[in-house]
Amino acid sequence: MFTTALAQRDKTQSGEVPLDLFAAIESLKKELNAVILAHYYQEPDIQDIADFIGDSLQLAKVAARTNADAIVFAGVHFMAETAKILNPHKIVLLPDLNAGCSLADTCPPKEFAAFKAAHPNHVVVSYINCSAEIKAMSDIICTSSNAVKIVQQIPEDQPIIFAPDRNLGRYVMEKTGRDLILWQGSCIVHETFSEKKIVQLKIAHPEAEAIAHPECETSILRHASFIGSTAALLKYCQESPIKEFIVATEPGIIHQMQKVAPYKRFIPAPPLNNCACNECPFMRLNTLEKLYWAMKNRTPEITMSEDIRLSALQPIQRMLEISA
Ligand code: 13P
Ligand code: SF4
Repeated sequence: MFTTALAQRDKTQSGEVPLDLFAAIESLKKELNAVILAHYYQEPDIQDIADFIGDSLQLAKVAARTNADAIVFAGVHFMAETAKILNPHKIVLLPDLNAGCSLADTCPPKEFAAFKAAHPNHVVVSYINCSAEIKAMSDIICTSSNAVKIVQQIPEDQPIIFAPDRNLGRYVMEKTGRDLILWQGSCIVHETFSEKKIVQLKIAHPEAEAIAHPECETSILRHASFIGSTAALLKYCQESPIKEFIVATEPGIIHQMQKVAPYKRFIPAPPLNNCACNECPFMRLNTLEKLYWAMKNRTPEITMSEDIRLSALQPIQRMLEISA
């Protein structure tokens, strides 16, 4: 798929780029009757041109109710795929088809089918960060915003498989007291943070609070005063009287944090190595230019088989009903 995607981009994403990309995108939006959805981990320019910015749950909800003819999804593949599952008759564009997800990649359908078969009578709760094939094998989908609530609604005597993120799964186990069978997947971005450097930062900034996404490892979460989805982290920073935060998630969210609380200080939690590996390499594949080309050429478009779509739709709808 990725080689095809690269070839596709080479052919269609070249040529003269308008000087005012923002104006060109606005005009294409009207032409296509499109809505632009962006995740908090997108680069600031993309966040600024989006009609809606949100975490995975908020974006899925907006995708489920939009009247637009086209959805331009500035996020990663599984998010655009979810939008397509909910909107089979709309065109769903992803600026760069290579924008995958390391966590979704840790859960290949064939291996997961065998894992599921080895645990009969288990309900499968899957984190939305997975492929349509995994969703199709699941009973209910969750996001980092509602995972605890969704597990709590399942009868206590019902055994549960939780996939694919072991860190979120462990966090849910702790919060619910439930014993979940965890698929051992994880996100390269949320496992990159250095506990030692976070502790050093807390010593250097005694007034600062560490906050973290539940995809982080326990060694990071134990230093956090607040744990939540990207939207929950944003809300917490805005409402808290604290003025300084060490933010253990992808630093794209800091653009919105700085907007809602310009007088506060947000320090990105440092990675283990001296690299920019706390930035999601998949999310960051999307650029304003690629977004422009995707809208101009109406490609790359998300497509899938109707069989998979219908099977994946049910567990997503169950989640949306519970999270309405
Ligand atoms: P949320 O959007 O649920 O905060 O998850 C973050 C993430 O890693 C998305 O890929
Ligand atoms: Fe996937 Fe992690 Fe990137 Fe989110 S931050 S899209 S979980 S690789």
